[in-house]
Amino acid sequence: MATKLKTTYSCQNCGTNYSKWVGKCNACGEWNTVVEEVIQKGEQPFDWKPKSASAKNTVAIKRLSEVQAATQDRIITPDQELNRVLGGGIVPGSLVLVAGEPGIGKSTLFLQLALELKNKVVVYVSGEESEQQIKLRADRIATSNEVLILTETNTQAIFHQLQDLHPDLIIIDSIQTLHSPIIDSTPGSVSQIRECTGEWQRFSKETNTPVFLIGHITKDGSIAGPKVLEHMVDTVLQFEGDQHYTYRILRTLKNRFGSTAELGIYEMMQNGLRQVNNPSEILITQREEQLSGISIAATMEGMRPMLIETQALVSQSHFSTPQRTATGFDLRRLNMLLAVLEKRGGFAFGTKDVFVNLAGGIRVDDPAIDLAISCALLSSYEDKAISPTICFVGEVGLSGEIRAVNRIDQRIAEADKLGFEKIIISTYNKKGLDLSRYNIEVIAMSKLEAVYQFLF
Ligand code: TYD
Ligand code: MG
Repeated sequence: MATKLKTTYSCQNCGTNYSKWVGKCNACGEWNTVVEEVIQKGEQPFDWKPKSASAKNTVAIKRLSEVQAATQDRIITPDQELNRVLGGGIVPGSLVLVAGEPGIGKSTLFLQLALELKNKVVVYVSGEESEQQIKLRADRIATSNEVLILTETNTQAIFHQLQDLHPDLIIIDSIQTLHSPIIDSTPGSVSQIRECTGEWQRFSKETNTPVFLIGHITKDGSIAGPKVLEHMVDTVLQFEGDQHYTYRILRTLKNRFGSTAELGIYEMMQNGLRQVNNPSEILITQREEQLSGISIAATMEGMRPMLIETQALVSQSHFSTPQRTATGFDLRRLNMLLAVLEKRGGFAFGTKDVFVNLAGGIRVDDPAIDLAISCALLSSYEDKAISPTICFVGEVGLSGEIRAVNRIDQRIAEADKLGFEKIIISTYNKKGLDLSRYNIEVIAMSKLEAVYQFLF
């Protein structure tokens, strides 16, 4: 068989192909991302289909009403957080990409899942670690050892091994280490990642086996490899968190089988990842004494209500330009809140250093946290503590007004569940609220001034 040697130039960022080298990719605008890749058509792809299956499948036009809704028997895993982000368990034949920075805990999460899934044939394919390393990790995180492992990176060889096994779930750690013998570029290059993902896509659809592909993320947070990867898979999950904290968040970026507003929370322990089913409890510090500069916000992360402690420190500045630092909160938003407090309330923040911090290394983009941050700032400014039985929810506008936020019922219900006595919300949120359902006292206010009067 004559092999045809072919090279192509492809952008390592977006996957666009060029016939000659260019310095800047026209499609995504990145510089120096176009690399020559040798694509050699060699081996034929391995055919994993049973020989009896008819090669020809006919597709005809039909009425939607005649289509039988396939009852998808999802695999419900013992990991409730994972079930939640997948939209209620693993869909058979689905291809899921899990992206995250190196060292965040992707291998731990999925090895743990493989070990905990009883009565299922799970194959964990690792191109990153040796069998001994996997064994060591497994001994640390679980008592059982019931998982099939394969340390192979050649996709066609993997398909050969899987052929007679009929696994219920396959985990690939990671897509960047795989290589397909059908094309000749190096593992981790755009062409290889695209080819390997394509092969797994065909495999998962034709054998109706769910496949998880673990993928590394680049420094700027995008999924390494081409954007096309995201289009080829059914679901994209992102595993994120601050390396210095123990909390990890599993987020849905795309899901053909459920909502993308879902979120799973884990804590990295000595013996693997622990599911955090009630996040509010860990994000609020239980303390005896009352300190100034602390307030509790009722936020939402995706569809999940979460109460989180916000901390502020306001101190006299010794520099002409005072310092402003925010961890877990947008710095521009902090500057805006300070300007509002200065202009509308007459507080002299201009000569103060201001530091804001959210508990647990969690990042919150929900604007409803504004009111709690403002109150923490005022509390530190006045050096007067806010009672730990009050929590806050509301966006702050430029004139110091407290604006309505979404999903107010869920936030109030969460605060109520956790035993808070009072929650301060926007007057504009009060309409249509059935307050008799809650034990918590709901106080509606329309201006920051009113909240200040109430607290101090
Ligand atoms: P790992 O799953 O190897 O990350 P990834 O696959 O995303 O690159 O996790 C690596 C980190 O997790 C490592 O720094 C050690 C830590 N870890 C624990 O704290 N406890 C554990 O039980 C395990 C297995 C790992
Ligand atoms: Mg890993």
